[in-house]
Amino acid sequence: MKVAVIVGARPQFIKCAAVSRELRKVATEVLIHTGQHYDDNMSELFFRELEIPKPKYNLGVGSGPHGAQSGEMLKLIEEVLLKERPSYVVVYGDTNSTLAGALAAAKLHIPVAHVEAGLRSFNKRMPEEINRVVTDQISTLLLCPTETAVDNLRREGIRKGVYLVGDVMCDAMQYSIETAERTSKILERLEVRPKEYLLATVHRAENTDRPENLEKIASAFDMLAKSGEIVVFPAHPRTKKRLETLRRVDGLRNPLVIDPVSYLDMLVLGKHAKVVLTDSGGLQKEAYWFGVPCVTLRDETEWVETVEAGWNTLVGTDPDRIVAAATSPALPVDPRSHYGDGHAAERVVRILAGSHENLVSADVTAR
Ligand code: UD1
Repeated sequence: MKVAVIVGARPQFIKCAAVSRELRKVATEVLIHTGQHYDDNMSELFFRELEIPKPKYNLGVGSGPHGAQSGEMLKLIEEVLLKERPSYVVVYGDTNSTLAGALAAAKLHIPVAHVEAGLRSFNKRMPEEINRVVTDQISTLLLCPTETAVDNLRREGIRKGVYLVGDVMCDAMQYSIETAERTSKILERLEVRPKEYLLATVHRAENTDRPENLEKIASAFDMLAKSGEIVVFPAHPRTKKRLETLRRVDGLRNPLVIDPVSYLDMLVLGKHAKVVLTDSGGLQKEAYWFGVPCVTLRDETEWVETVEAGWNTLVGTDPDRIVAAATSPALPVDPRSHYGDGHAAERVVRILAGSHENLVSADVTAR
């Protein structure tokens, strides 16, 4: 069996590392990197650290407006798929690379397997939400991380080919956490001690591309720093550029704005943080797995279970709400009861290989 796997953005390299490890045991994998993320510390670093094989194709698409970026990917992915003729195309998550990969494959009648299907924020202003909804509509296999995701698809009338597999990010974390703890020197490098710093990330377009939102978030971080908290802030390149425009990063020790860090360093930073402040999806769950309270800098989340369990507080961009939630965070009680058991990737591969008799699809278990 030949399976083409499309990746392009940082979180997809992490998910792909977990799935490809299993996939390569039973299939020929053709790895296609769209080039959406291209800085060393957003791309190559993850391939080296997670021992992901070099992609057979790097399309080098790079940054650009949504239409130009997605259109260029669509054209180039189609050429590769016509040449390779895989049995399946696997796409991950909700990026422009996901949408382009799914669309190119579906138009060529190659079945699409969407890993992380069914997630919804119900906010169509997010490009990621549009990417998810469209990708799910044209996928043959919808591999869901949560029951909520299965229910979301059912409400949209999508029942066929839907499987609850768990979260491949959980597999990735479980696989790497010991190595991360043993090898990462990030706490020493930053001169911070466990449970004595807050970890912050911001990269969503709704927060970075609207200066008033980024200004409010940055001023909340300043308020926290002034009150004596240490804020460690690995900034996405997009965010760093915008912050520089706001003159927020000149030689500041606190908030400590640093370049993006590797996956292993990020696991260690997340595990030992006092509180996580983020608009990232992945980091909300990592905080949950590590028993670290999370303050989410958005008004909604796709990972509703973390909020329902009292681990995650949605605060939007209001500085006072951010500061209040960060300084008196919710006290988590029930770690790791959602998002799988670390075997999601095995299920994904069994479904692709057709050897999943004992995995029940959601159309069979219709409620
Ligand atoms: C993308 C995804 C988002 C995902 C995120 C993870 C879409 C619509 N969004 O957003 O779902 O959560 O990745 O990080 O696909 N840039 C660099 N160097 C890089 C990559 C990006 O400087 O290596 C800068 C560029 O200025 C670019 C900006 O980041 O204009 C945005 O890049 P984009 O490709 O839209 O991705 P993300 O914002 O990271």
